[in-house]
Amino acid sequence: MIITDLKIGVIGLGYVGLPIAVEFAKKFEVIGFDINESKVKTLKTYVDPSKEIETEILKASTLRYTSDILDLESCNFYVVAVPTPVDKQKIPDLTALRSASQLVGQLLKKNDYVIFESTVYPGCTEEECIPILESESELEFIRDFKVGYSPERINPGDTLRTLTKIIKVVSGCDDESLDLIAEAYSQIIEAGVFKAKSIKVAEASKVIENTQRDLNIALMNELSIIFDKLDINTKDVLEAAGTKWNFLNFYPGLVGGHCIDIDPYYLTYKAEQVGYTPEVILAGRKTNSFIPKFIVEKIVHQLLTKGKKLSECRALIKGLTFKENVSDIRNSRVFDLVNGLEHYLINTEVEDPNVDIQDLDMSFRKKLNTPNGKYDLMVLAVSHKVFLDEDIDDWSAYLKEDAIIFDVKSSHNHLRNSTDICYMSL
Ligand SMILES: NC(=O)c1ccc[n+]([C@@H]2O[C@H](COP(=O)([O-])OP(=O)(O)OC[C@H]3O[C@@H](n4cnc5c(N)ncnc54)[C@H](O)[C@@H]3O)[C@@H](O)[C@H]2O)c1
Repeated sequence: MIITDLKIGVIGLGYVGLPIAVEFAKKFEVIGFDINESKVKTLKTYVDPSKEIETEILKASTLRYTSDILDLESCNFYVVAVPTPVDKQKIPDLTALRSASQLVGQLLKKNDYVIFESTVYPGCTEEECIPILESESELEFIRDFKVGYSPERINPGDTLRTLTKIIKVVSGCDDESLDLIAEAYSQIIEAGVFKAKSIKVAEASKVIENTQRDLNIALMNELSIIFDKLDINTKDVLEAAGTKWNFLNFYPGLVGGHCIDIDPYYLTYKAEQVGYTPEVILAGRKTNSFIPKFIVEKIVHQLLTKGKKLSECRALIKGLTFKENVSDIRNSRVFDLVNGLEHYLINTEVEDPNVDIQDLDMSFRKKLNTPNGKYDLMVLAVSHKVFLDEDIDDWSAYLKEDAIIFDVKSSHNHLRNSTDICYMSL
């Protein structure tokens, strides 16, 4: 196959699939497929349900959308970007990946290519996806079709480091496929591509990027717990330590979402499968998972110290998304904060202009509010720009005089010197 022959089918049009489909459509004929018919319907009106791509860009694109598998029949280069979550036991849930492999397998013809972009553990593409492609297509891997893996590194909400500006790791099942896959991605990635030595190496590289970040944040979270007991301000310590050339720039906080909070479990699952218990990685996960409870307990202790009756307290949580300046609430640890406060009978409301109320469970919708009346507690949970731009003096309109402010990200660390405000942070 040569590059000019590519007809691309992108499977899964979410945070990863849609941007890649839009970029490829600038150079190739591209069809975007998603099993979610209502998402496809919305995309056909040039609206990205994930709010990452603007309508004007979608309108200008030649990308076509479908939820009919038959529309993909003429494709010869499939890019798979379906979700890879974990189940309740934190075991990789490969349901979507297997079903997408099945779907592509049914379409596969001789000489076709399949590139997986979903985050997985090292070995997953070869052990799970390729056998499905072979059995569904009745074709032989490498002789009849080729496979590659190219992990995605986009950072939702980041308007500077967008898809085309981040070096893309690519891999193939042999030299020929590696060259073609690298050439295809080079057409759209301005920052260039990096050819990984193998599919397994590329898979491992992605999963360790987020594992490293998870662990670094876990260390900061652990330090914050220690410094709390020692009555030292964590941000002050990090500011001082940060003056050393090789001290890494990480801060404590809530670790949620569908990457950092999940990807390490893909690696630990595989490690355990091959007989090794990865204690450091799992310890990091445990520390980060504990942080919502730590915050809730600090708040409750402070409210009780102030002589408040918890069931009469009103709390306002600012921000519900898994990180700042996005609308994605999946796996947000702010839910743990809300549930933790409500466990102590504290009446909790959430303010988040980025969140679409339709994304919330019925039971949670009534909690999404704009500030009204007076609150005993305000938690600055997510540092959305709209919140950071607020005039702090305006908060007094909805905070009781003896209210507590818990600033998860220490965005307003200077407030801890205020004599009027009870300010707490990680
Ligand atoms: N979102 C990120 O920031 C990010 C960054 C890097 C890597 N990743 C990885 O990329 C993958 C996709 O993540 P995402 O955030 O784009 O997920 P997403 O949920 O936003 O989108 C996935 C899409 O796939 C569709 N889908 C599910 N099963 C399907 C199937 N069998 N056939 C066709 N479509 C199907 C869903 O309807 C959805 O629209 C995951 O492995 C994730 O870990 C995500």
